[in-house]
Amino acid sequence: MLNNKIKEKIVLALDVETIEEAKELVEELKDYTGTFKVGLQLFMGYGLEIVNYILSKNANFFLDVKLHDIPNTVQKASENIVLRGANFFNVHCTGGLEMMRAARKGADDTAEKLNKKPPVILGVTMLTSISQEVMEKEFKVDKNVSSFAISLAKLAKEAGLDGVVASAVEVENIKKELGEDFKVLCPGIRPKWSLKDDQKRIATPSEAIKRGADYIVLGRAVTKAQNKIEAMEKIYKEIEEELCLQH
Ligand code: C5P
Repeated sequence: MLNNKIKEKIVLALDVETIEEAKELVEELKDYTGTFKVGLQLFMGYGLEIVNYILSKNANFFLDVKLHDIPNTVQKASENIVLRGANFFNVHCTGGLEMMRAARKGADDTAEKLNKKPPVILGVTMLTSISQEVMEKEFKVDKNVSSFAISLAKLAKEAGLDGVVASAVEVENIKKELGEDFKVLCPGIRPKWSLKDDQKRIATPSEAIKRGADYIVLGRAVTKAQNKIEAMEKIYKEIEEELCLQH
């Protein structure tokens, strides 16, 4: 029997070119996956077709479109995201406190009307593609990237967001500063046996969970594996062994 405590932590990134590939992944991996993540690539290509397919399999879906606009627009977009059935979505913290509060309000009001649980809203603090050099030379911000990211995470909490997206390396610090209940979703997850690809600050699934990750994003480590089910089973086994997680 699959361990549900592990399953609810697993977010599978559907970063593929075609709707057929995405549907195959959902079909094959739905028993192992708590939430399927639909990003800009797939959403711009196939919009609601993939979303409705995921929902038809009774799986959770995370709309990873990182909203960043004026508060009114973000509020209205958040209403529609909940109407479409998303259980998770994200916004850029650099949109500011009022914008993040608007996302929370739009999502919660709509969930209440639908008699549904409010979605998990995560803040994106600093994109991992933004280096210290970009901060200083392009943005003219004379602040350390990590401490800037922590300030943005604090703002996200103040706005009522549920948590942030961060590398596993940062989880302990975020939990220390913002409390255990503030959720952290970690990308850059690589089991020992898989390739690093272009990810730099990586952690294994069990390392990330040990450090406190509430959710881990699995992408190419599973989706590009020769045998995807076998890859998932290895990941479950490793987490169970390392963390002694009870069913
Ligand atoms: O295939 P891989 O495991 O590298 O996929 C990671 C997923 O997490 C991708 O969907 C990527 O967009 C997302 N992500 C990331 N780093 C961040 C934020 C999101 O890799 N800082």
